[in-house]
Amino acid sequence: MYHATSVIELRQYVQHWKEHGQSIAFIPTMGNLHAGHMSLIEKGQSLCDRSLCSIFVNPMQFGPNEDFNHYPRTLDSDFEQLEAIGCNLVYLPTASELYPEGLEKISQVQVTDLTDYYEGAHRPGHFTGVATVVLKLFNIVKPDVSVFGKKDYQQYRVISKMVADLNLDVQIIGQETTREASGLAISSRNQYLDPEQTGKAALINQLLRDCAGQINEGERDFKAVEARAVNRLDEAGFKTDYFKICNAETLLPASAENRNLVILVTAGLGETRLLDNIEISLW
Ligand code: PAJ
Repeated sequence: MYHATSVIELRQYVQHWKEHGQSIAFIPTMGNLHAGHMSLIEKGQSLCDRSLCSIFVNPMQFGPNEDFNHYPRTLDSDFEQLEAIGCNLVYLPTASELYPEGLEKISQVQVTDLTDYYEGAHRPGHFTGVATVVLKLFNIVKPDVSVFGKKDYQQYRVISKMVADLNLDVQIIGQETTREASGLAISSRNQYLDPEQTGKAALINQLLRDCAGQINEGERDFKAVEARAVNRLDEAGFKTDYFKICNAETLLPASAENRNLVILVTAGLGETRLLDNIEISLW
C-alpha cells in the first residue's frame, strides 16, 4: 500500500492510474478504522480498479466542546487493516496543507435544507465542516466513485445533495451499516461504553426493527410509533435526542403517502451519543 501526505504526491499516484485507464474508488475517513470502514473499502474495490482511503481528523467539523483532541488516533492499526484488505493507497492530509490560513479563512460549502435538523441542529457548523473537507478531498483525489456509510445517514444524504447541487463528477454510493451480532451499529464511539451499556445499546437497533415492522404491517400513526419508542428508550436509561420517521430523500417528517422512509435515531447513553437508522421501502 502506498502512502501519500501531500497533494502533489497524492496526485502523482492518481495521475499514473488514470493514465493506465484505471478507475478509482475513494473512501474518506477519520481513522480509528473498524469493520464498518472496511466494508466501504470492499464496496469500492468491487466497483473500481483502485481503492484509496484518506485518514484525516477534520478539525472543521468538530464543535468547540466536542472530542477533536481526544478523537482516537490509531494509525498503526489502521495501516494494518488497510494492508490486509488490499487497499492501494492511504492519503494522510495535513491540516496545514488543507487549511493553510486556518479554519476561519477557508471558503465554506453550505448544503441547504438537509443540514437544518437532527445532527445539523445539534451540532451547528458540523455539516459545513464535513461538506467543505469532502469537496476539497474530491477535488484533490478526483475519484470516479466515493463510498459513504448509511450509518451516518444524514451525512450520506448531505454529500449526495452537494454532489447533485454542485454538479460534481463523482458517483456516491451508500453502503449498508456493519453491525455487531447484537445489532449494535459498529462505531468508534462504542469503545467508550462499559459492558453493561454495550448490552443496553443493542436496544436501539431492536426498536428500529420493531418500528419498521409495525410500519410494514400498515401502522401509519407515525407520531404514536415515535412516542412509544422514545418512551422505551427513556425507560431503559437513554437520553433520546430524536427518534424520527422521515422521508428518506428530504429527511422531513414522513407523511402517510411516502414510500421510502428512514427512521433516524440518536440517543445518549452515559457520555456516549449513539446514532442509528433503518430504511423502509413500502410497496
Ligand atoms: P468516519 O466517522 O471515520 O466515517 C468514515 C465513513 O465510515 C463514513 O462514511 C461512515 O458513515 C462510515 N461508517 C462508520 N461506521 C460504519 C458502520 N458501522 N458501517 C458502515 N459504514 C460506517 O464520517 C466521517 O468519518 C467524516 O465525517 C468524513 C466523511 C471522513 C469527513 O471528515
